[in-house]
Amino acid sequence: MTRYQAGSKSGLPHSSTPEDIAIKPRRPEFDFSGVCKYWLRDPFTSQFMNALSIVVPHSERTVIDIVRKYEGSISDPNLLRDMDALIRQEGRHALMHLRCNELLKKCGYSAIRPFERFQKFFVSALRRISPPAWELAMPAAFEHFTSAISRDFVVNQSFWVGEQSNAAIDFTNWHAFEELEHQAVCFDVFATLEKRSWLLTLSLLFVWMPATLVSVYGMQLYFLLKDGILLKRKNWRPYLKFIFQSLPMLTRGAFKYAAKGFRPWSPKDITIYRDQERRIQHILL
Ligand SMILES: [Fe+2]
Ligand SMILES: [Fe+2]
Repeated sequence: MTRYQAGSKSGLPHSSTPEDIAIKPRRPEFDFSGVCKYWLRDPFTSQFMNALSIVVPHSERTVIDIVRKYEGSISDPNLLRDMDALIRQEGRHALMHLRCNELLKKCGYSAIRPFERFQKFFVSALRRISPPAWELAMPAAFEHFTSAISRDFVVNQSFWVGEQSNAAIDFTNWHAFEELEHQAVCFDVFATLEKRSWLLTLSLLFVWMPATLVSVYGMQLYFLLKDGILLKRKNWRPYLKFIFQSLPMLTRGAFKYAAKGFRPWSPKDITIYRDQERRIQHILL
């Protein structure tokens, strides 16, 4: 555990998760054995989410590691409770994504392992050279993307899912729900300890947005080329249309963190969360 020094605002209560929303670690089971690699609306949406799944386990382990590291600097009991619940949720998510990723490796995508090794090298090298404020911004930046993607998946379900129904969609709906549930926690940890909230904006704009765009769209491109989908000219247009439609999800929102007094959980976020809770009640039971 590390005590945070520079720019510390420790002592301030800072959990911004609404009081009536409890972050609950859950352990639902999903059987992916009957799910094919195109489990969403089309190859473009499916391979985007498959690419994301490759990135998720190491990102979530990094979130867990950094949140644990700074636990000793947090004094707000509500935020400490949220951090513990987030760690448990992320541990479960990483495990389930590893299972999905093993199935993808069996499809013959030989670049997955070298990519995973590069991601580990890249993230650990960045952590080694980062001052504490930049390291603290990492989980907040990762959670920025997971909550943005989750919100989009939940709100624009027909864009992603189409007419499909399977265990991988149930799993993604559950993961998206829990990402919405703990959307504030890593930002709260960052904002409690670091008053220069614009550092999160900078780290998103100059490190994590470029890194996420290159890795997720890069892996998606690799999958689609390997499948031969993009070797057919007729697929270029829908592919480019998908990129154009999905890009705002990964590139918006960095500047909100620089605004004075920014707090997560807008009234719209609460509505989205409650609607999703109702929709996937059968999975949460
Ligand atoms: Fe997660
Ligand atoms: Fe998360």
